[in-house]
Amino acid sequence: GTKRKSAPDIRAQKGGPPIVSLTAYSAVTARLVDPHADFILVGDSLGMVEHGLASTLGVTLDMMILHGASVVRGTTSALVVVDMPFGSYEASEREAFASAARIMAETGCGAVKLEGGAAMASTVKHLSERGIPVCAHVGLTPQAVNALGGFRSQGHDAAARDRILNDAKAVEQAGAFAVVVEGVVEPLAAEITRALTIPTIGIGASSACDGQILVLEDMLGLTMRVPRFVKRYGALGDSIEAAVRAYAEDVRARAFPGSEHVYKPRG
Ligand code: KIV
Ligand code: NA
Repeated sequence: GTKRKSAPDIRAQKGGPPIVSLTAYSAVTARLVDPHADFILVGDSLGMVEHGLASTLGVTLDMMILHGASVVRGTTSALVVVDMPFGSYEASEREAFASAARIMAETGCGAVKLEGGAAMASTVKHLSERGIPVCAHVGLTPQAVNALGGFRSQGHDAAARDRILNDAKAVEQAGAFAVVVEGVVEPLAAEITRALTIPTIGIGASSACDGQILVLEDMLGLTMRVPRFVKRYGALGDSIEAAVRAYAEDVRARAFPGSEHVYKPRG
């Protein structure tokens, strides 16, 4: 097949066709996303979506590696980017490198993502200069939910807008190949996109961004409550529920398994 996309390929898509991205947490869904996406994010949102945690703060490096390796095995063409979990990179550049190196080596992914702007710029630079492509993430950064006071949109006053624009410029300067812009007022996302030479990947941001990303389970209709920025492209929760109900009825009625589902002795 075709060669898998690299971080530089995504970087080079600035000003070209919009970058298509979705999350995936394991091979079964990654395989379905792979032919249609430029990059697949193994997001630490898996802690909430897949493991039932209240926030992403309890997600560990081992969890990210387990899911990341599964996604890499299920894909051949999209770049796979794995989120660095809370607590695995903030304390020092040294710690960040050790964590990112484990993610790269044990999953086979092509890049990592970490949350933060100006405060993380030296870490982005440290990793980027040592062979680890970094996607940054600014605006609504879910690992900072306690500091932000909740999952709420950002950039509602001029000082906040200046800070977020400065964050985006800082990670670009530090060598990030792309930046996720999440949950910011629309004109700010458009302004950041114009100001940067690296692609912006929007989520709850702007159609002007260089690409878009959504959490797969959210857009498929598998999750209960979603932010307003999610467009539902499917109702898989309803489909699964109907299938499970039909199965339960069949089992209780002894209608499953049928004669075609059982093995007849050959002799
Ligand atoms: O963890 C995640 O899924 C993310 C995306 C929503 C950007 O970081
Ligand atoms: Na994330």
